[in-house]
Amino acid sequence: MFGLLFATFGVILSAKYSSITVDQSAFLALKSHITHDPYNFLATNWSTSTSVCSWIGVTCGSRHHRVTALNLSSMDLTGTISSQLGNLSFLAWLDIHQNSFHGSLPIELTNLRRMKYLDFGNNSFNGEIPSWFGNLSKLERLGLSWNQISGRIPNSLFKCKDLKFLSLSSNSLEGSKIPLVIGNLISLQVLSLGSNKLTGRIPTPPPLLQLYGVSTNNLIGEIPSSICNLTSLVAMALHDNNLEGTIPKCIGNLSSSLTTVFLGNNNFHGQIPENFAKGCMLRSLHINNNELEGSLPRSLGNCKALNLLDVGNNNLNDTFPSWLGNLDQLQVLILRSNRFYGQIESFDITVSLTKLRIIDLSHNNFSGYLPTLFFEHMHAIRDEYGKKVEPNYMREVKIMKDAHKFGVYYAYGLSVTAKGLEMKFESLLSIWMQIDLSSNQFRGEIPKILGELHLLTVLNLSHNCLIGPIPSSLGNLSELESLDLSSNKLDGRIPTELKNLGFLEVLNLSQNNLKGPIPQGKQFDTFTNDSYIGNLNLCGLPLSKNCGTDEETPVKFDRDDDGDELNWKFSILMGYGCGLVLGMSMAYIVFTTGKPWWLIRIVERVRQRFAKR
Ligand SMILES: *[C@@H]1O[C@H](CO)[C@@H](O)[C@H](O)[C@H]1NC(C)=O
Ligand SMILES: *[C@@H]1O[C@H](CO)[C@@H](O)[C@H](O)[C@H]1NC(C)=O
Ligand SMILES: *[C@@H]1O[C@H](CO)[C@@H](O)[C@H](O)[C@H]1NC(C)=O
Ligand SMILES: *[C@@H]1O[C@H](CO)[C@@H](O)[C@H](O)[C@H]1NC(C)=O
Ligand SMILES: *[C@@H]1O[C@H](CO)[C@@H](O)[C@H](O)[C@H]1NC(C)=O
Ligand SMILES: *[C@@H]1O[C@H](CO)[C@@H](O)[C@H](O)[C@H]1NC(C)=O
Ligand SMILES: *[C@@H]1O[C@H](CO)[C@@H](O)[C@H](O)[C@H]1NC(C)=O
Ligand SMILES: *[C@@H]1O[C@H](CO)[C@@H](O)[C@H](O)[C@H]1NC(C)=O
Ligand SMILES: *[C@@H]1O[C@H](CO)[C@@H](O)[C@H](O)[C@H]1NC(C)=O
Ligand SMILES: *[C@@H]1O[C@H](CO)[C@@H](O)[C@H](O)[C@H]1NC(C)=O
Ligand SMILES: *[C@@H]1O[C@H](CO)[C@@H](O)[C@H](O)[C@H]1NC(C)=O
Ligand SMILES: *[C@@H]1O[C@H](CO)[C@@H](O)[C@H](O)[C@H]1NC(C)=O
Repeated sequence: MFGLLFATFGVILSAKYSSITVDQSAFLALKSHITHDPYNFLATNWSTSTSVCSWIGVTCGSRHHRVTALNLSSMDLTGTISSQLGNLSFLAWLDIHQNSFHGSLPIELTNLRRMKYLDFGNNSFNGEIPSWFGNLSKLERLGLSWNQISGRIPNSLFKCKDLKFLSLSSNSLEGSKIPLVIGNLISLQVLSLGSNKLTGRIPTPPPLLQLYGVSTNNLIGEIPSSICNLTSLVAMALHDNNLEGTIPKCIGNLSSSLTTVFLGNNNFHGQIPENFAKGCMLRSLHINNNELEGSLPRSLGNCKALNLLDVGNNNLNDTFPSWLGNLDQLQVLILRSNRFYGQIESFDITVSLTKLRIIDLSHNNFSGYLPTLFFEHMHAIRDEYGKKVEPNYMREVKIMKDAHKFGVYYAYGLSVTAKGLEMKFESLLSIWMQIDLSSNQFRGEIPKILGELHLLTVLNLSHNCLIGPIPSSLGNLSELESLDLSSNKLDGRIPTELKNLGFLEVLNLSQNNLKGPIPQGKQFDTFTNDSYIGNLNLCGLPLSKNCGTDEETPVKFDRDDDGDELNWKFSILMGYGCGLVLGMSMAYIVFTTGKPWWLIRIVERVRQRFAKR
């Protein structure tokens, strides 16, 4: 009798003891699979001399005294996932994102039946998505983005009825069987399948969806009208696919919740929906690089929060949207390569575009004088105030932040042409200020007031019909990094004030009627013939033509202030000369074509000049 009691007690005891021991040995097995732990997170901390529950990253439940959560995110660990992890039978939360785990996910993980939250994002896992995920019936979040996972999305995954958050972006997933089944995930709020190799039609998303991302795939077909039922939709990213058809009219109706619409780089045709309702919440609308025609809907004026409008590279035929003057949050306006026409200078500004920082009207058919009044109202670029404007773009509602934490990235590659190259910004820099009015039919003189846009970084007025002199006030644009006035009919001399443009990397004055000496010294020493070709009568270095002694202003090599000169060269050498903004923003910029040649050129020239001494 006693013996039996004892035995039972012993079994219970050992069971309780062994359970947490199981967890401990599972972790020790995991530790032994970790080949690199650069910050020694686990090396000494995961030691059997202390309780598993006090180990770093480990959380135990109070009821069963078993491990319920493991968080090893962002520890820079390298290794594989050991099958023993499947023995952590109380585990409900497993987050190992942002490490260098590799290999495949062991099938034993299917035993983790309590699992709700799984994040394997930003590692180097490969192989296919295991079908046993479908057996984790309590799963609410699954993150596998930024790995090297290939193959198809297994249908079994769509058995997870509680799944709210599915992120599989930035892998090599393929296949076209998505649409039918994804609709089964009735709880889904966030779907991120972007940057894969998915083909076929775009998935019909479940009704509660808030964030819908399938960008950068090879999807075809039209946007299904069922999208009109997604009344909770906050953001949709369908850009960079081969979608066609028209943009559903209901997009305008959805705009009471919808803040972000990315439809760029597809084949949409027809008109932009017209019914953006009052109270529209839209912040970013990118429909660039499609075949849209007609006019820009006036109802966009109802979207008071709009801060980014990119309709570039379409066939829109309209006059300048002067009604945009009411959108006082607008920071970026891109109308490039369309059929916009007419004058801007008569533009009757009632409310000013105080926050506008990037305006690209290039490759259209605008005519008349350059819009002086418009420049006058560009407070973001004119005043110190501009520097305080936060990069509002992508500062989003909670779901977006949440998504971001989970490896879902909606920073869209806004592309602009600057310094002769197409650049893509992963997020919008508040200090990048650009005016591009090139390739239009603007005429008349360059207004002096442009010199008051102190924070401007890029100015392109090339390929117009501008006449008269280059205003010396441009020498006040102290942040300017790129100035293109080429292919106009400008005359007179190059104002020496332009030497004050200490960050100027690209200067193009070619194909004008300029004459007289080219200013010498400072940044001007870095420009080559290409900056001046096709002018009437320019002389001095770098051109081979000498300026005669009859020139009114003798050639003046700027040696007035030796100290200044030395400092200047030193700062170039230190990489400062490549531009303050550029220097600061290098990390954000992806150059779509090779290396930044102007940087190489500057460095080369400085090197040559120093080598000669
Ligand atoms: C392990 O790390 C945890 C969390 O940082 C800490 O509380 C604990 O004291 C550490 N244990 C040892 C033995 O260093
Ligand atoms: C997981 O660990 C990371 C890094 O230590 C920490 O920043 C994060 O807040 C943790 N997450 C949770 C849910 O505790
Ligand atoms: C844990 O898992 C491993 C491998 O999956 C298995 O061999 C072992 O028997 C399991 N049980 C314990 C108590 O470790
Ligand atoms: C992935 O992790 C690496 C470091 O491990 C980090 O540099 C990189 O920014 C991360 N990428 C994303 C998209 O989070
Ligand atoms: C998943 O569940 C199905 C049926 O419920 C079962 O047949 C299958 O063996 C399970 N798979 C795994 C890996 O446990
Ligand atoms: C929208 O939802 C309603 C009600 O749930 C449904 O009857 C209708 O078919 C849906 N429309 C589309 C286009 O899916
Ligand atoms: C969408 O908006 C249009 C015009 O604003 C309206 O006529 C239509 O009834 C709306 N549709 C829905 C489904 O709300
Ligand atoms: C623009 O539209 C007008 C009518 O709205 C038409 O007369 C004109 O030809 C169009 N221009 C272009 C370039 O398509
Ligand atoms: C551009 O506008 C001019 C008149 O300002 C007109 O003659 C020309 O046909 C237009 N070009 C295009 C492509 O619309
Ligand atoms: C200025 O615009 C023209 C035409 O739009 C373009 O070809 C050129 O590369 C631009 N200049 C710079 C310096 O970006
Ligand atoms: C440059 O700016 C200064 C101060 O803002 C002003 O006094 C000066 O007149 C400007 N120069 C030109 C050429 O406009
Ligand atoms: C300057 O512009 C002209 C045409 O406007 C172009 O041919 C030339 O390549 C450009 N030069 C530089 C240095 O970008």
